[in-house]
Amino acid sequence: MSQKSIAVLTSGGDAPGMNAAVRAVVRAGINRGMRVFGIYRGYNGLLNGDIQEMNLRSVSDIIGNGGTMLYTARSEEFKKKEAQERAADFCRSQGIEGVVVIGGDGSFRGARALTAAGINCIGVPGTIDNDIACSEYTVGFDTAMNTALEMVDRIRDTAQSHDRCSIVEVMGRRCGDIALQTGIATGATAILVPEIEYNIERDVIERIINTQKTGKKHFVIVVAEGVGGVRDLAKYIEQRLGIEARATVLGHVQRGGSPTVRDRVVASQMGYEAVSLLDKGIGNRVVVMRDGKITNLDINEALDMERVFDKKLYKIAMSVSI
Ligand code: ADP
Ligand code: F6P
Repeated sequence: MSQKSIAVLTSGGDAPGMNAAVRAVVRAGINRGMRVFGIYRGYNGLLNGDIQEMNLRSVSDIIGNGGTMLYTARSEEFKKKEAQERAADFCRSQGIEGVVVIGGDGSFRGARALTAAGINCIGVPGTIDNDIACSEYTVGFDTAMNTALEMVDRIRDTAQSHDRCSIVEVMGRRCGDIALQTGIATGATAILVPEIEYNIERDVIERIINTQKTGKKHFVIVVAEGVGGVRDLAKYIEQRLGIEARATVLGHVQRGGSPTVRDRVVASQMGYEAVSLLDKGIGNRVVVMRDGKITNLDINEALDMERVFDKKLYKIAMSVSI
């Protein structure tokens, strides 16, 4: 029987832990007797023939590194059917039977298209946003939250010293999970997320006034990227309440850095699971975490799911951050 060949790519925004997932795919594949190829710069690598065969040492010393050793890209070209067919032909020309795609749900749409073109693909959720409906967890989320936590703690030090209000925007695209978790962990007086309808007077101004009444003089407001407008909010708070306010957009600092234990472990589990599926000749699935366990789902089913925001946790945050 000929040796099976598989490949791995990272796509969309990079996330801490992607390297740990790549390492797991390469080593689990080689340990099963497969040849494993790294595809560079997302789907573009398949269109440009930018691949390299990996060995056990190709992924040495990367588990603790942020970013992705395979680089990443957003490929507009790959959204076209003709490009997907070309990518599948390229895989066949190299003997590649299956591809592990590490990325977000956009990347999973690409994986579904490549599977339809004849190459089995398995998605592994890798994004700091935790915005993939089918999985409780996405690789990169824990590191991003912990980075945001450290940054907001620092901002709190200076807000406290000046009796100021600091308004901090965290990433997450349309998802408020980083904001919610960071907000609760830093004792933010208000947290604004796109999933919960808000009213600035009721959910920010009144909350500040109520905490002022209990003697508090500095405030942190955490705002999700999907809500935005932190500079305008800072100006409004200054005018409305007469307290100094400063806005900070944390930005890409949240995407980098050495992955936490959780991200390294989950990435290793998910990468391993993806290889087990490809080894059985199974494609068009996404590796997910459900009830804390690593399992897998059909990509179509996974992409059709609607994300559920943790309203209970939001309620707890509002009740204890006063
Ligand atoms: P993420 O994977 O983080 O959600 P994007 O939405 O930017 O990031 O998607 C990453 C890449 O996946 C895109 O640049 C494109 O190459 C591919 N992709 C996204 N949507 C599709 C689609 N509908 N069909 C084929 N490929 C897609
Ligand atoms: O998906 C990860 C993410 O960092 C989002 O939180 C953010 O909206 C987006 O990517 C930023 O993308 P870019 O790196 O292209 O500016």
